[in-house]
Amino acid sequence: MAEQKSGLVPRTPAESATEMLELVLPNDTNNLDNLLGGRLMHWIDMAAAAAARRHARRIAVTAAMDSLGFLHPVHRGEQVVLKASVNRAFGTSMEVGVKVFSEDTATGELFHTASAYLTFVAIGDDGRPKPVPPIKPESDDEKRRYAAAGERRAKRLARG
Ligand SMILES: CC(C)(COP(=O)(O)OP(=O)(O)OC[C@H]1O[C@@H](n2cnc3c(N)ncnc32)[C@H](O)[C@@H]1OP(=O)(O)O)[C@@H](O)C(=O)NCCC(=O)NCCS
Repeated sequence: MAEQKSGLVPRTPAESATEMLELVLPNDTNNLDNLLGGRLMHWIDMAAAAAARRHARRIAVTAAMDSLGFLHPVHRGEQVVLKASVNRAFGTSMEVGVKVFSEDTATGELFHTASAYLTFVAIGDDGRPKPVPPIKPESDDEKRRYAAAGERRAKRLARG
């Protein structure tokens, strides 16, 4: 799935990569003292929005979030690290991947808790979608994510 010709200078995923840290407070938890799924979805949306906005250098709105699985519970008092990066930019839309970790603050070890792919659309002052710069993947991981993002977009468009 080829990018549209925007004439904008390509940017690397590293230029907009965003790391967000949240502390799980009592108000973020359910009756089992575990992080609420809805709260985590909000944090994922915020981390992804920051990466999309940094890449587009304009406001970007959430158009879609792909399926989200919760791999294990996160407990009250733990820290949550969210790593967001733009996998690929198309015409006016971008796919942002967010990987969520809970952090063992005693050891610094990170446990993979959830992953999500979101589509953001850059919006101009007139409220309409605006072209975004292409992504220029550099590392092997960035190239793999770039290729996979193209396949996921094709499936999304086919689903309608
Ligand atoms: C996202 C939105 C701006 C798209 O507007 P639109 O009039 O459909 O614009 P277009 O048809 O020109 O599509 C613009 C881009 O969005 C993409 N897009 C639109 N709906 C999409 C969806 N459901 N999933 C993935 N991509 C989507 C299109 O593929 C296109 O991408 P491209 O330019 O890279 O090819 C519009 O639907 C909107 O404002 N939605 C609400 C966003 C919002 O408020 N989010 C917060 C949560 S409620």
